[in-house]
Amino acid sequence: MNRRWIVLASVTALVAGISACEKEIGPAKNSTPYTLEIPMGFPQAAPPEDNPLTVEGISLGRMLFYDPILSRDSTQSCSSCHNAEYGFTDFGKKYSTGIDGIEGKRNSMPISNLLWQSEFFWDGRVKRLNLQALMPIEDPIEMHETLPRVVAKLNRQPRYQEAFRAAFGTKKAAPETIGLALEQFMLTFVSGNSKFDRVMRGTETFTAAEQRGLQLFNGESNPNNPVRGADCFHCHGGTLFSNFTLSNNGLDSVFADRGLGKVTGKATDDGKFKVPSLRNVAVTFPYMHDGRFQTLRQVIEHYNTGVVANSPNLDPSMIGFVHGLGLSQQDISDLIAFLETLTDESYLNNPAYATPF
Ligand code: HEC
Ligand code: HEC
Repeated sequence: MNRRWIVLASVTALVAGISACEKEIGPAKNSTPYTLEIPMGFPQAAPPEDNPLTVEGISLGRMLFYDPILSRDSTQSCSSCHNAEYGFTDFGKKYSTGIDGIEGKRNSMPISNLLWQSEFFWDGRVKRLNLQALMPIEDPIEMHETLPRVVAKLNRQPRYQEAFRAAFGTKKAAPETIGLALEQFMLTFVSGNSKFDRVMRGTETFTAAEQRGLQLFNGESNPNNPVRGADCFHCHGGTLFSNFTLSNNGLDSVFADRGLGKVTGKATDDGKFKVPSLRNVAVTFPYMHDGRFQTLRQVIEHYNTGVVANSPNLDPSMIGFVHGLGLSQQDISDLIAFLETLTDESYLNNPAYATPF
């Protein structure tokens, strides 16, 4: 064999080796497929093709989510900053503190209905949840650990060897399967059983205040129109209560945090943040990427009278807001009453999302 053939043969072997490896990442042969129930009225959606949900995969993801072993000194798990009863946010804290006692600069995000989302973090910098899930582990101001060390720690525990084997057919942990398992568990966080949903399904009715709040929420703001509107639906409309774009809702004239602009490097993206879903919003306080507002009343006061006219890149649909929405205190109370109907107790207290330990 001449040299060229030898090189070609070893390249072929290498490629075959890689694809053999890749094939190994996927559900274990005997694992149990899991079908997510899509609530009535929600758009159809499916988990990524390369990560079909299985009972075993979800169960492994749940262990990982609640296990402080993912942090360097074993003091912090994902749940330390994402608590189910607070819509998976950080116990009402403005900023989260990592294992070294260092405070971050952003408010912990709610984790729900991620199946319908494709950009993650306040600045949308990550497009896939399995990759997102590995980042807090290595973030120096969060769990401050390395993936190789996490893998080594997991591989020393028989319960994880068993759980990885049941989910992915190999008892050895790897960053890829850690990410896939956490993705599977988080995709099961579906919230679609609030009072709002039950009213939409015709099994309950709104109070007069809630009904007025809904009308304001979905109403156009037009100074010539005697019926006031709060214009929330442009960005927070639809079943998921967000259009999941990144936009600037007029909080500042100068940005301490550039948001999307830091990711793309474009000044025209400065001040743009992910539009959060308003489901369970009554329990996910404080609000905005920096947790600057403690209450829903403060949030609505911002939209009513506080939108900064010269905020660079202000979303075009907010131009009308800069003259004020003209909402009365009663209007604001009604809007809050409506937003409170988005709280889904069966979601916040779902035993399937609780710690398995
Ligand atoms: C120290 C607190 C802390 C820990 C620990 C933590 N997170 Fe977070 N999480 C945050 C903060 C703060 C953000 C927003 C960060 C940003 O936008 O840059 C966030 C954002 C997220 C998001 C984005 C949600 C969205 O709608 O875009 C997901 C998903 C998430 N975290 C999952 C996890 C998982 C999984 C773990 C464990 C591996 C974890 N987090 C550990 C604080 C934490
Ligand atoms: C132009 C689009 C847009 C419009 C219109 C809009 N919002 Fe927002 N909303 C956003 C964005 C973007 C954020 C996140 C901003 C940030 O964190 O910097 C946000 C954040 C919020 C939050 C905080 C949620 C959380 O988890 O922190 C609430 C509550 C909220 N909006 C309610 C409303 C209400 C009520 C209205 C109508 C009066 C409204 N919004 C109109 C884009 C919009």
